[in-house]
Parts: sequence; C-alpha cells; structure tokens
Amino acid sequence: MFKYKKGIILIFILTLCMVLNGCGFISDGKRIVRIAHSQSETHPDHIGLIAFEKYVEENLGDKYDVQIFPNELLGTSVKAIELTQTGAIDFVVCSTGNLETFDDIYSVFSIPYLFDSTEAYYKAMEDEKIRNEIYKSTRSSGFEAVTWLDAGTRNFYTTKDVKTPDDLKGLKLRVQQSPSNVNMVKAFGAAAAPMSFGEVYTAIQQGVIDGAENNELALTNNKHGEVAKYYIYDRHQMVPDMLIGNVKFLDSLTDEEREVFDEAARICTQVERKEWLLQVEEAKKQAEAMGVNFSEVDVELFKNRVIDLQNQMVSENEKLKPVYERIQEINSEVK
Ligand code: GCU
Repeated sequence: MFKYKKGIILIFILTLCMVLNGCGFISDGKRIVRIAHSQSETHPDHIGLIAFEKYVEENLGDKYDVQIFPNELLGTSVKAIELTQTGAIDFVVCSTGNLETFDDIYSVFSIPYLFDSTEAYYKAMEDEKIRNEIYKSTRSSGFEAVTWLDAGTRNFYTTKDVKTPDDLKGLKLRVQQSPSNVNMVKAFGAAAAPMSFGEVYTAIQQGVIDGAENNELALTNNKHGEVAKYYIYDRHQMVPDMLIGNVKFLDSLTDEEREVFDEAARICTQVERKEWLLQVEEAKKQAEAMGVNFSEVDVELFKNRVIDLQNQMVSENEKLKPVYERIQEINSEVK
C-alpha cells in the first residue's frame, strides 16, 4: 500500500517536472532518461539495465543521465506502460502479457505452447523478420520496442498439489492483466484472477487465490515460494520481457545517439540473458530450501487442453499470422 502511495507521489512529481520543463526532464544540463520496471535490484532485468545505463552514460554522459526505478516504484507494470506511452517516463521493462492490451500484436507470445523448445524461443527472439513485424509496429500506440529480455518458461505453482490438468479444475489462479491469459487459464478449467505482479504474494497468503503461473524467479525474488509450495513443469508459455521506449523520445535522438541507445539495448540483453541462466538455477535451489516441491508432469496432457487456442487466437487476429507462421518455421528448423 505504502509502495503505491509513494508511486503516486513520484508520478505527480514527474508530471509536474514535465509540465515545468515543457518536455523531458533536465537536471544539471542533462536530459534525465527514466526507466521503470517491476523487479528487485538483484533481478537479471535490473542488472541488464545497469549495463544499459553504463553504456549510454559512457558514450553520451554529458547529455543524458539514465535513472532506473525498480520494484514497481512508479506503479504497476500497466501504469508504467501508460507513463511510457504518454512520455511521462521514457522506457519500461514489462512482460508481453501486460503489453497486449496496449497493442494486441503482443498477444502472439501468450499463445500457449507457441515455442517447441527454448532453442526455438531464443532463435525467434533474435530473428530479424519477427523483430521487423513487432518492434516498430506499435508506434501508433506511442511506444516502440528496443530489445527483449529472457523471462524463462512460465509454469503453474499452487498451494495444492497438482499432477494432471484435472487438478487445476476449480482453482483460482492469478494471471497477468491479459485477456489471452484469462482465456488460457479458463481453457485449463481453472478460474482466472488478473492482477498486478506486486499483489500476488498477499493474494496467495490470504487465500484469495490458489496459485499463479510464472518462472522460478518469482518463487525467490518475489518470495512466492513462501506461500505456494507446489511448482509443476507444465511449460505452457515462454513469455519475454520487452524494453519499450516512448516514440517521441526515441525520435528526438540524433542518428548517432540512437545508435548508442540501440547498442546499449543489445548489451542489456546480453548481460541479462547470461545473468538469467545463472539465477534460474540458483532460484531452484533456493526455492527447494524454502520447501517448494518441483515436479515434472505429462506436458502433452496439459498441452491438449489448450492447443485449440493456437488456431483460435491466430484466426481472430490477422496481425498475429506472419509472426506465428515464422515461429512455426523456426520450430521446425530447430527440430
Ligand atoms: C515475470 C516478468 C515480469 C512480469 C511478471 C508478471 O516476472 O519478468 O515482467 O511482470 O512475470 O507475471 O506480472
């Protein structure tokens, strides 16, 4: 609660500064570049962003001062995306799940069992054709993607033991504020409770929900493993985080400056991905020590429950087709 009040005050100050400055934020003659995200300071996203900040400031430090706001300090992911859209802040790192209501091209990543393997996922995220279809396509929504960050594989974790899809029936599970994820959880036979990431711990603790779905870092970094002890590898999604930037800010950069920001974004991804792989292994060990039980389940059983959503989602939204088809090509190339 306190965190959100602090967030509201900060947003008010940011808006006031923006009005006073006309546009952007200047301090000591430098343009302040604000980046928000919802993770802690030890999370791979944050570590990647520090590398971004360092590169920009090493090359353009006389002109830009990059400031990172972790822990939903400027509000929930959805709020921070809105702030990026309007230019109250310049960048946000957020999940494609949360981006989909701002631009539905991002719902492609919510298609359950979209990628056949992590190799296919990594290849697709670095694929030029997919980037071209997605990154700049959201400019009319006020933002553009500059890079992606690994957020692993999403799986269910609950307060009750789950072994088969039937065990999900009747459970109330948190999803991101994303219509596709609501539909997916319903197709599994459970009830979906969309809410922000920061609300999940208390909701599980108080029994408002029976669990959620996320990568292993949610158990440790966000302490969900203290309140949900059953984590199953049903592997329903690989949903990336994106670094998105405000269009007006990005367009205000000279070509040389834009090249520096783009290189900083590439470095951010490299650093984050390396850190991700290390931390995910560590998170499993830590969560086990917290008493979380990890189990392998029959993935095909889970997949069969939701596979019809693939065709349904693509036929309902023409925009998804080229990206979906390219991903299918990559799935077969990688096999
Ligand atoms: C992951 C992801 C976040 C996202 C969160 C969520 O942790 O990295 O960007 O906000 O899931 O489920 O909301």
